[in-house]
Amino acid sequence: MKNRSANQPAVISTVAELRWAVRAAKASGGSVGLVPTMGALHAGHLSLVSQSKRDCDFTVVTIFVNPMQFGPGEDYDRYPRDLQKDQELLAPHKVDLVFAPSREEMYRPGHATHVEVDQVADRWEGAIRPGHFRGVATVVLKLFNAAEPDRAYFGQKDYQQSVVIRRMTTDLDLPIEIGVCPIVRDADGLALSSRNAYLSTDERNRGLSLSRSLRAAEGLVASGTRDTKSIEAAMRKILSAAPVEMEYAAVVDPDTLLPVDRVERAAVALAAARVGGTRLIDNTILR
Ligand code: PAF
Repeated sequence: MKNRSANQPAVISTVAELRWAVRAAKASGGSVGLVPTMGALHAGHLSLVSQSKRDCDFTVVTIFVNPMQFGPGEDYDRYPRDLQKDQELLAPHKVDLVFAPSREEMYRPGHATHVEVDQVADRWEGAIRPGHFRGVATVVLKLFNAAEPDRAYFGQKDYQQSVVIRRMTTDLDLPIEIGVCPIVRDADGLALSSRNAYLSTDERNRGLSLSRSLRAAEGLVASGTRDTKSIEAAMRKILSAAPVEMEYAAVVDPDTLLPVDRVERAAVALAAARVGGTRLIDNTILR
């Protein structure tokens, strides 16, 4: 266990220590909540921690920048890493344990096993970032196996990720309840993301077009528009006026992520764009 100052959560770095600690908590009848993160924590992550603390007796936060989910040329090397700051942010939440493994601890020499989720992982983010969800599903399954949680918490901000993880959990009969917590936004509407730190002031202002496009989609649905083409056209107009380099603006089925023609029941509006060198994604549930 690494050194820590008063109130900071205990940090462990091996799967063996994690298993031991979780099994000890379970032996005394406690339920275990897992909050997987890549660190660079913000209020969005902390909302997952708070939900786990409300639901479970023992909360584990994992901090691991997973190389397997980054493609060539993506931001793996520059992804923000500051374990000390993350521990300080977690201290008031009184989490029970932080698991911060090394790359070698998670992927032993010769690692050759991967988890592929088909269909829901293939489009949108999956099409733009080939191999991304394979990396996410593999590391999340490894974290589930190591921590054996009763519940695990993910943010709605990565909507497709939450669908992929639910699919994997169902398909592999994992006895884990998946909680998806609402998006946390800055006062100006930008969805919180560790990658927002890359944005200049101008890029941030342009990046706000994503949440504006989603508010427009919500407004159209609220005023009776059902036709998806009109909703998507309104979203695209806002994104191209910003301007940002739009990757997709789509209204999809919340479970299959297939495009829908009309919003007759719940649907999800997804938006992704590049602003300068930074990719931003956002979404909203249309009811
Ligand atoms: O959402 C994230 O931060 C990551 O994709 C996750 C779930 C921690 C897996 O590395």
